Amino acid sequence: MTQPPADAATMEKIVALCKRRGFIFASSEIYGGLGSTYDYGHYGVLLKTNVKNEWWRAMLQERDDIVALDSAILQHPRVWEASGHLAGFTDPMVDCRACKKRFRADHLDREEMCPAKASLPKTDDRRHELTEARDFNLMFKTFVGPMEESASVAYLRPETAQGIFINFKNVLQFSRKKPPFGIAQVGKSFRNEITPGNFVFRTREFEQMEMEFFVPPDEAPQWYDHWKQQRLHWYVDLGLREDHLRMREHELDELSHYSSATADVEYLFPIGWSELEGVANRGNFDLTQHAEYSGEKLEYFDPQSKERYVPHVIEPAAGADRATLAFLVDAYDEDDLGGEQRTVLKLHPRLAPVKVAVLPLVRKDGQPEVAGEIVAALRTRMQTEYDEGGSIGKRYRRQDEIGTPFCVTVDHQTLQDRTVTLRDRDTLEQERLAIDGLVEVLVERLAREWRSPKVAAEA
Ligand code: GAP
Repeated sequence: MTQPPADAATMEKIVALCKRRGFIFASSEIYGGLGSTYDYGHYGVLLKTNVKNEWWRAMLQERDDIVALDSAILQHPRVWEASGHLAGFTDPMVDCRACKKRFRADHLDREEMCPAKASLPKTDDRRHELTEARDFNLMFKTFVGPMEESASVAYLRPETAQGIFINFKNVLQFSRKKPPFGIAQVGKSFRNEITPGNFVFRTREFEQMEMEFFVPPDEAPQWYDHWKQQRLHWYVDLGLREDHLRMREHELDELSHYSSATADVEYLFPIGWSELEGVANRGNFDLTQHAEYSGEKLEYFDPQSKERYVPHVIEPAAGADRATLAFLVDAYDEDDLGGEQRTVLKLHPRLAPVKVAVLPLVRKDGQPEVAGEIVAALRTRMQTEYDEGGSIGKRYRRQDEIGTPFCVTVDHQTLQDRTVTLRDRDTLEQERLAIDGLVEVLVERLAREWRSPKVAAEA
């Protein structure tokens, strides 16, 4: 399939919106920033938390064959020997002797002009002067304890998966599960990426949502298919446009050393089709390696069949930041309201940072007090925001930009008959409702399993 041209303008608009509304912004800004590291503000935290909660819901609440885990970021250095990360988690790197820049050898445009040679005559060779490729390990190294000795070297985990494998035996004992069953984990991972970029698409510190599903060896192919389907549906159910999603099976020469089959859920980001999540059939590689390096038996004994085996593993591995970016990109819309431009995030209500905003039309005549009463009732059930600053039009625009599905407006009539207007973010329809029963109406509407209106409209 041909790659569509990168839409840099959309990405720039999303980055600008994220900064303007305090979703995500450059880290260490007062010191000039630290390349490709980002901080999440109020709405960004709410949005990413909702993404992670939806993942947990799909893994834990909606099934009974997966248990949760939260393993340490710092692990025994032997973990990374056994996993193959110490020897193999590398990118081939080349340096330019002229401009001193470093590039990934496999991502290099060999015709690119070296900036240090820009002033040379056109007849000269103005390309980079490259060294031989060298392997560069992507793990961040640190030291445990006060002495920087080799004995105390440790690594920040480059994936959450290994914390699951090394706890296989523990979990098997306390969870009373038998294969097929899974262990799910969400947490920070760190990679010293050579070419981070495209906002939070690729950063050096990021959050992963990974699940290792342990199965009898002969069931691995069917569970691989199951998880590919489940994971694709998860994104569709949360509103991503189906025609912007695809499942791409890896070619044989793309497969990791541990994998017999891998497929990527890809999304059509403004930078083109790119990996959103990987689903891999890891075979028994990880448990076998950790058994060999630790000396512990990592296998399952079936008391009924008296069979003993090393389970195979199917792994759906997603990124919380990358998924958050995909939801932002997909939800971003600009429309025209009778000559006025509106920017709106048509986020699925389950993901929207704020579910409802309560706005008194004016800051007097008892309206703020009634609005405060409504906020107090609503916030027991959902993320609610009170806003009384600026014109009502400006406040609607602000809520549209952060993706709030509903706005409740208190006006003069409210004080006479205790009714309010309820404004829908997507249809812009306004209806008059009684304050009594408002909480129930909103709870019911948010609970409906409706797809994002954008998807429904395009279907
Ligand atoms: N345990 C397998 C594993 O870690 P991966 O494809 O390297 O597989 C899984 O990572 C997911 O983690 C990716 O699909 C992506 O969503 C996210 N991810 C990986 N590296 C990332 C980075 N540098 N920045 C942001 N997200 C990243």
